[in-house]
Amino acid sequence: MATYERKDRFYHQAKARGLPSRAGFKIEEMILRHRLVRAGDAVLDLGAAPGGWAVVLAKAVGPRGLVLAIDLEPLAKGAPNLRAFRGDIHGEAAASWMGEQLEGRKVQAVCSDMSPKLTGIFFKDAYLSYELGVKALEVAQRWLQAGGNFVAKLFPGEEFPEYLKKLRNHFKTVKVFEPEATRKTSREVYVLGLGWKG
Ligand SMILES: C[S@@+](CC[C@H](N)C(=O)[O-])C[C@H]1O[C@@H](n2cnc3c(N)ncnc32)[C@H](O)[C@@H]1O
Repeated sequence: MATYERKDRFYHQAKARGLPSRAGFKIEEMILRHRLVRAGDAVLDLGAAPGGWAVVLAKAVGPRGLVLAIDLEPLAKGAPNLRAFRGDIHGEAAASWMGEQLEGRKVQAVCSDMSPKLTGIFFKDAYLSYELGVKALEVAQRWLQAGGNFVAKLFPGEEFPEYLKKLRNHFKTVKVFEPEATRKTSREVYVLGLGWKG
């Protein structure tokens, strides 16, 4: 095949485990390697549809935990500890929904897999993903508990060093992570912020 192999081992594993998307393996790897979330945590899952991350996160936080998932698109049917909102993360409605669900509590992790509609124009895709990464960081500023963890997907471009700098101001540890389940042809990376300084 000239382009990428769409139905690789992660595609087949996702099917076999009944996961809505192969993306779940990426967050699973980040949880295993970096203890991004723990049992009992409340987590914001931004850019959650069709729901691969949400299923994995809901399992990781367990019945005492909570996953609040937001996306422009609908999510596949979820677990009892998973609540979904369909809308734009920039909108007032999404902010109000998070407020209602959390009732004054903070979350222990903000996980963003938000991605713009890719144009194939390198600098444009990089900039749009940077903007979504900045928005995810704003959400963390509002809702993340001191000591909490963060991850955002970016397509690195000119703004990438600036994004890392912003994260270093807020987190004790910052790492750039390329999950095994990322397609070999994709330029995506995940920026992890561990230990929100508050
Ligand atoms: C790669 S997909 C997410 C895959 C998902 N994490 C999973 O595991 O199934 C990126 C998602 O970001 C969402 N997205 C992009 N911009 C958004 C915005 N402004 N507000 C909410 N969601 C957004 C898209 O609708 C899309 O579903």
